[in-house]
Amino acid sequence: MTTAFIGKPVSRIDGRQKVTGGATYAAEFVAPGAAHAAIVRSTAASGRIASIDSASAERAQGVIAVLTHRNAPRLPYREHKGIPDPVIGERLHVLQDDRVNHQGQPIALVVAETLEQAQHAATLVHATYDQDAAATDINQVEPVLPTQEKTDQGEAQSPETRRGDPEGALAAAELKIDHGYVIPREHHNPLEMHATIAAWDGDRLTLWDKTQFVHNVADEIAAVFGIPAENIRVISPFVGGAFGSGLRTWPHVTLAAIGARVAKRPVKLMLSRREMYYSVGYRPHTVQRVALGASRDGRLAAILHDAHQETSTYEEFSESILDASRFLYSCPNVYTRHRIAHMNVNTPTYMRAPGVASGNFALESALDELAVALDMDPVELRLRNEPDRDEFSNLPFSSRSTRECYRVAAERFGWSRRSPEPRSMRDGRSLVGWGMATAHYPMHYAPASAKARLLPDGTAEVTSAASDMGPGTWTSMTQVAAEALGLPLDRVKFTLGDTRMPRTPPHGGSMTMASVGSAVQAACRKAREDALARSGASEIGDAMHRLGQPVEASADVKPGDETQRFSMHSFGAVFVEVAVDPDLGETRVRRMVGAYGAGRIVNPKLTRSQCIGGMIGGIGMALMEHSVVDARNGRVTNANLAEYPVPVHADAPPVMDVLFVEEHDPHVNPLGVKGVGEIALVGVAPAITNAIYHATGRRIRELPVTPDKLI
Ligand code: MOS
Repeated sequence: MTTAFIGKPVSRIDGRQKVTGGATYAAEFVAPGAAHAAIVRSTAASGRIASIDSASAERAQGVIAVLTHRNAPRLPYREHKGIPDPVIGERLHVLQDDRVNHQGQPIALVVAETLEQAQHAATLVHATYDQDAAATDINQVEPVLPTQEKTDQGEAQSPETRRGDPEGALAAAELKIDHGYVIPREHHNPLEMHATIAAWDGDRLTLWDKTQFVHNVADEIAAVFGIPAENIRVISPFVGGAFGSGLRTWPHVTLAAIGARVAKRPVKLMLSRREMYYSVGYRPHTVQRVALGASRDGRLAAILHDAHQETSTYEEFSESILDASRFLYSCPNVYTRHRIAHMNVNTPTYMRAPGVASGNFALESALDELAVALDMDPVELRLRNEPDRDEFSNLPFSSRSTRECYRVAAERFGWSRRSPEPRSMRDGRSLVGWGMATAHYPMHYAPASAKARLLPDGTAEVTSAASDMGPGTWTSMTQVAAEALGLPLDRVKFTLGDTRMPRTPPHGGSMTMASVGSAVQAACRKAREDALARSGASEIGDAMHRLGQPVEASADVKPGDETQRFSMHSFGAVFVEVAVDPDLGETRVRRMVGAYGAGRIVNPKLTRSQCIGGMIGGIGMALMEHSVVDARNGRVTNANLAEYPVPVHADAPPVMDVLFVEEHDPHVNPLGVKGVGEIALVGVAPAITNAIYHATGRRIRELPVTPDKLI
């Protein structure tokens, strides 16, 4: 198929705006007369507020209001359990009672004329607590089965599955691997902190917010305040990274709206970096056990995968950790169990490749351990267990390019030159290791809407309430629209990020291109056909000139029955070279090659950029990221970017190759897109730890692999 714009490496159309400061982020909007707010947070992890003294804060210069559970407005907190909010439990009610559920919970809000006055007065609020014993250490909490397991899409799945006779097959297997794997809590650290500006006009509310889902913010705040969602307008044109932290509507948004209502003027509330560690979710700490049984020729006879993760005391958050073990490889005997540990923590949330990246780390590590035990090449082991259908759902794959991904990535990497023995490859003092892993992520396509408006001057305005946290939605949607309209790119103006625009699913789960893209395509095709039919012209410029008035079309797209007919996923393979300093224990990633079969690639330049970002995120997961919790009080002791290192440019390997395997999948969605946002992080951590084993002979099963674990 020849295309004018789809599949072309178009540069970001908002790139200039971003690098020149012309792109306006949530905290940068100007609401005339805005006051500033600061949150006072609990220093206890569990119990009740015994006393709270706000008198000196109230007297401080510039203070407009100090709100605590004693004087804050009572809010109805009606039910709102849409995706992506946990369906089980009740979200944190801010300033409604004296209960403390977690360290860092908001206990007061100070509103003042200036930010400095609000921050200063916040330090003058003093609370004492009647503390309960707090559950802060996952190893001390008995995990329980969740009421139901949620996948990324909120679709219920059994927390426990079994096919065949896994225990029997494991006991009888010629070879067995049985180990535990641990991933500690990791926090989202986007450049832009979460921020909200709230402005009331009677019973109508405008929120300028950092979010991946404007309609969810409107729905949640409507439920909290007991007002119609139509009364709330949420504006969020630019998002400075989020990785999932912007999928939910967190308590600070409610606090900004409460503050504005009490102060009777707009209120701006921006979280500090430290507050981000207590406020907007995180990737939960997971504890996993994977047992594999196999025959000497490398065929899997049994997989047993048992995992548990932390969640809060008030909500059940559970993510799809066990997906890979259920379907990724062919195996007749599989047992999986997912449990949760209720703790005195704020609720975790989705973080890039939620659940999938965690489970994949355990499974792909175990597979590498099996390859070592079999003395078999790890790629060969995976090829021997390639399924011809999804054995969990018992459905055919709509497309699955794993073999092709292994082949092209291995070839680009030079895998055939690997000497299999650990510690057998060196570069000067450094121990060099090569490792690989499989990547996968489900294809999500959800109902979405878009509107296209053709103008008499031959330009078009296209809107959809999507977000762009970095992948390039502004640009890719402009490409899809221009293609469908038959207009040049510079005649199409696509805009997003406002609840006044047609509704979309969350900007997460790698579903924006598939869902919003299909809606934009449908709306634009409709508008074009309508304009051509009404004018009798054969091209759009001519048609619009003849018509002399706008032509508008809306489209709603939604999945059909394909989820009942096909198992749909993106697949990929990651190959990594590390160099480990044998004396200092420092690991450097020197080369990475990722190959992905992800359906149609709308913009290879931006998609490559997105994949590189995911791969670098995987380096952080493997080698650096770890929110260290002080079990005495639930405090995150490294709640800052100095002590919670994330990869920077100097950590990115000089060689990063991203390859896309050509795939034409007619089943997934009208645009044929599978998504790459999450898959690019999946497989990276195990590929790195597998490479570290190859370099050093040391198998590290607890992330991150900091130098202390290697010396
Ligand atoms: Mo992603 S965790 O779906 O924002």
